[in-house]
Amino acid sequence: MQWNGLQPEAGRFSTRIGACHLLPPCRVSNLQIHSYQIPAPDAWRPPPLVSFQAMASHLEPLISAEMIAAKTAELAARIREDYGDRKIILVGILKGSFIFLSDLARAIGGDLEIDFAQTSSYASGKSSSGIVQIRKDLDINIEGKHVVIVEDIVDTGTTLNHLRELWSTRKPHTMKVCTLLSKPEASKVKIPIEYVGFEIPNEFVVGYGLDHGERYRNLPYIAILREG
Ligand code: IMP
Ligand code: MG
Repeated sequence: MQWNGLQPEAGRFSTRIGACHLLPPCRVSNLQIHSYQIPAPDAWRPPPLVSFQAMASHLEPLISAEMIAAKTAELAARIREDYGDRKIILVGILKGSFIFLSDLARAIGGDLEIDFAQTSSYASGKSSSGIVQIRKDLDINIEGKHVVIVEDIVDTGTTLNHLRELWSTRKPHTMKVCTLLSKPEASKVKIPIEYVGFEIPNEFVVGYGLDHGERYRNLPYIAILREG
């Protein structure tokens, strides 16, 4: 068995640089050889689910992991088709978009750069304060570039409206938005959203990067969080 240079051996994986099977021709001269002491697949066991089962009574599944994966592939194909072989700057809005962005980026393929920004409008509750604070701005200069902002969810639209206004002053060639989820009933600011995964009811949801007080981001599906 051989995965892109990864060769499982007894009790460990070692990364062998030198053959890039799945990648276009690449330079390897500056890379170092690493090996990791991680368990072989046979010895691996998933982490205990006890804590998730305890939390599950408050979670009402809404969108399965399979549906998310299919939708991500569809959005990625649309994006790559729209931009052809041009370079895209994907900008993930932290923290909620980190899982969606990592899946989307791999599905889009081609020439792509990734940056992150972090905003805060929710404190730790379930409703937006309406005040957008920028905690981390872009590192990449977006002037003349094709930017796609990646959001986990558009709720009132306040965050995106703020970011679009701010970043359009930096003169990107184009700036579009891709969000996995949108709550049309909660919208307070009408903003164009070019790529929307799922429109959902006006409920507070968690999972696949979305949190409540920093919990549930690691849930592989989207669920409505019920009080209880
Ligand atoms: P907006 O500015 O009201 O559109 O809020 C956007 C941000 O609020 C999102 O990027 C999320 O981080 C957060 N948010 C909005 N709705 C939810 C939700 O249902 N669950 C978790 N986070 C949410
Ligand atoms: Mg967000």
